[in-house]
Amino acid sequence: MDLNGKVAIVTGAANGIGLATVKHLLKNGAKGVAMCDIDSQNGEEAALLVTKEYGEDRAIFIKTDVTEQQDLEDAFRKTKETFGSIDIVVNNAGIVGDYRWEREIKINVEGVVRGTQLALEYMGKHKGGEGGAVVNVASVAGLGLKSACPVYDGTKFFVVGYSQAISFPPLDKSHGVRVLCICPGFTDTPIATGVLNAYENLKVDTKEIMSYFTMQQPDHVAEGIVHILREGATGTVWVSNNCQPVYQVDFPELVKP
Ligand SMILES: NC(=O)c1ccc[n+]([C@@H]2O[C@H](COP(=O)([O-])OP(=O)(O)OC[C@H]3O[C@@H](n4cnc5c(N)ncnc54)[C@H](O)[C@@H]3O)[C@@H](O)[C@H]2O)c1
Repeated sequence: MDLNGKVAIVTGAANGIGLATVKHLLKNGAKGVAMCDIDSQNGEEAALLVTKEYGEDRAIFIKTDVTEQQDLEDAFRKTKETFGSIDIVVNNAGIVGDYRWEREIKINVEGVVRGTQLALEYMGKHKGGEGGAVVNVASVAGLGLKSACPVYDGTKFFVVGYSQAISFPPLDKSHGVRVLCICPGFTDTPIATGVLNAYENLKVDTKEIMSYFTMQQPDHVAEGIVHILREGATGTVWVSNNCQPVYQVDFPELVKP
């Protein structure tokens, strides 16, 4: 996919990986980005900085709670009204902390399903759309790294599995939207701190854990998202870990559809 002139929706765009993704999409030629987040204070401020750097008419902030169907529907409608189309959806909003596991499931699982369904609704060829691409943000915790928050890990396994399953060829032929998944490793945001705190609560030696990882910056994951939007085939899952270039995960092919 050529990113030039494309319009994107990014959830969880007020901070961290989402905000970095917004900047990298614009830097790589996107026409406009809707920055959706529940955090309106940081979101409004971030959108001001982004428009200052990339142009007044290239980003808007839309206060959106991904757990609320109406909020997300309004965000899609407003994005199309503002920029004329929707070509890319990055379902990135997420939280960690099993002490609020129901909320984790609502945001990390339901938010991703809702965002993907609306993306297919707006971009799907079966609905008269032009096709496009979805990136669902999972985690290395969705590939087996145990984060000390088993519900969080489970939500990320869901994102990995769902992103592959939605690309089942008979479904894919009708919607014509590429669905990709990226699994970041430790990235310098409050989510990484949350995971490290969870380890500490269990008296796990975080120094030892971090001896296997290099903390990467959100920009690094954003570069990976741009790469897979350009190059990734539908249903593929990618890892962005340890400041290394993104690479695709090989899954065993148990049953051919
Ligand atoms: N940082 C890491 O180490 C790491 C590793 C693997 C995966 N991830 C995933 O990356 C994604 C982005 O996280 P991050 O690390 O940038 O953390 P972050 O906390 O900086 O950003 C998460 C964003 O999601 C927003 N958000 C939370 N609930 C929301 C809701 N209901 N509706 C809309 N927005 C909501 C927050 O306001 C915040 O801006 C998450 O899905 C996270 O699970 C992060």
